[in-house]
Amino acid sequence: MPTPSSTVADGGNRHCHSTLALALSLLVVPCFALLAESGGIPTTLDGPFPPVTRAFDRSLRQGSDDVPLTDPRLAPRVQPPAPEQIALAASADADSLWVSWVTGRAQVGANLAPLDPASVRSEVWYGERSALDADADAYTHVARGSAEVYSQLYPYPGLLNYTSGAIHHVRLRGLRPATRYYYRCGDSSIPGGGGLSEELSFTTLPATGAGSYPRRVAVVGDLGLTGNSTATVDHLAHNDPSLVLMVGDMTYANQYLTTGGKGVPCFSCAFPDAPIRESYQPRWDGWGRFMEPITSKIPLMVIEGNHEIEPQGHGGAVTFASYLARFAVPSKESGSNTKFYYSFNAGGIHFIMLGAYVDYNRTGAQYSWLENDLHRVDRQATPWVVAAWHPPWYNSYSSHYQEFECMRQEMEELMYKHRVDIVFSGHVHAYERMNRVFNYTLDPCGPVYISIGDGGNIEKIDIDHADDPGKCPSPGDNHPEFGGVCHLNFTSGPAKGKFCWDRQPEWSAYRESSFGHGILEVVNSTYALWTWHRNQDAYGENSMGDQIYIVRQPEKCLLQPTSASSLNCSPGGCPSPMSSDSSGALPTFTSGQLFQKIFVIILFVCDRSKRTKWFSHVLDQLALLRLHFPFLW
Ligand SMILES: [Fe+2]
Repeated sequence: MPTPSSTVADGGNRHCHSTLALALSLLVVPCFALLAESGGIPTTLDGPFPPVTRAFDRSLRQGSDDVPLTDPRLAPRVQPPAPEQIALAASADADSLWVSWVTGRAQVGANLAPLDPASVRSEVWYGERSALDADADAYTHVARGSAEVYSQLYPYPGLLNYTSGAIHHVRLRGLRPATRYYYRCGDSSIPGGGGLSEELSFTTLPATGAGSYPRRVAVVGDLGLTGNSTATVDHLAHNDPSLVLMVGDMTYANQYLTTGGKGVPCFSCAFPDAPIRESYQPRWDGWGRFMEPITSKIPLMVIEGNHEIEPQGHGGAVTFASYLARFAVPSKESGSNTKFYYSFNAGGIHFIMLGAYVDYNRTGAQYSWLENDLHRVDRQATPWVVAAWHPPWYNSYSSHYQEFECMRQEMEELMYKHRVDIVFSGHVHAYERMNRVFNYTLDPCGPVYISIGDGGNIEKIDIDHADDPGKCPSPGDNHPEFGGVCHLNFTSGPAKGKFCWDRQPEWSAYRESSFGHGILEVVNSTYALWTWHRNQDAYGENSMGDQIYIVRQPEKCLLQPTSASSLNCSPGGCPSPMSSDSSGALPTFTSGQLFQKIFVIILFVCDRSKRTKWFSHVLDQLALLRLHFPFLW
């Protein structure tokens, strides 16, 4: 006869068996689906990886010529006053979006009369129905903004000036997340409709929250406008991203004299007598037209590089005029109030775009803003924090080696303590993915740094490594265009006491000199798939240069307090104006989070002392499953 206690135990076990069967049935199908999906792809949990270098394929060209402005992809396709160079940019969150475009003709010459930007309206007419499928009232909303012009002036004999068309920026508000909208932009008051664009469409980003992510985030840097650049953009478009990050150095307009002419890989070599590095602004207009098929449908998020500095005027006192005028970014929305650095949310990702060519010191405004921004991140709403800036901190190529060491020394600790997950940079014209690292030391809680400045610009691919014989730059090389020089010799490890390593550094996991772009696909709050697509690879899912699952370990890598804790925030972050927490909406769970909760319930209901041997075995298998496939949780 069973004892009362054993009856309870047996009844409990029967209850556990049925609960477990339900849980297993919920787990098995998605497990096998994800196993099939992730088969063979390494994860950062498998690292740190032994450094790997894939040599430059000498059958490929190191560079190619710029596409001329007469090319149909760069030449004007509409006549004024019709809008052109239409581009979208994310705002603070999914419910708002920037639309930008240009009207009127830019002028080049000695004495120019700038356009009056107020003479043309800045309107966006939009709605959830296409005018092609609906009645004349398809556009249920209209948003209005403003326009500006900028000039690039060279008060030197023989040089020409430039003044832009009217550059319009309009912010749409009250959009529904993950929803397709149709729109026309321009000036509706112009008779005959000639002041409006054709109908275009976009799909808004997913709402801020850990349960949804942008489908694909493309990352590209140092793009330029060569034959290689066009291959990169074609490839990128084929991969169908829902958001594009451009990590600086966009047009390379500053490779040209004001009088135009052919681009050169080394401006200072070709034009040693130029008083300041001139820049031929019509290249920007050609670039805007070339990018329009993508940027009019997908948000393009830019951050300035050194090729955007473009000094002008007496002694180069005025800088970044084109970058500041042409792009809308969520600077006010993110509290930075400058286009040189800002942040925004896209689903469960908080993006931080930093400026390397403005003050980055701990006493400066950018550092203070970054500190506050990081504290405001709600990791329950945006588990992922992805940062981007132009020059890399970790770089084993000879080009730009330790160039922005000062910036790293100022900001790295702050980023590390706040567990920034991924950092994208460009500047070096090659690809490199780092092992998780902090302060040049392998660290499982350091960010994954990725250099992706291989977009294809006219300056050609970088192939020399600082550890190649005779390729270590001298400390006098690689001066940054902004900030100081903080070159250091390593204080420990195989390169102790040396400026360069004698082999590929241990923090460099993979490097290769090829043109390409990357795609980031965040799966859930734990797993994100990163794929580097080389231009020479055939288009398709199974052809790529590098691929890895980047895995977050928040339970292992806890957030660490910093000085901004005076903001009186909880360890999870401060209330954010970009957080969805204030909406009052009920919390939602991903499927992985749901499985986790079921698992915890099973463990709670079925006390270990009451488990049968079979049941204990199954629970152990579940624990193993969780260990090896944490992205399920
Ligand atoms: Fe650069």
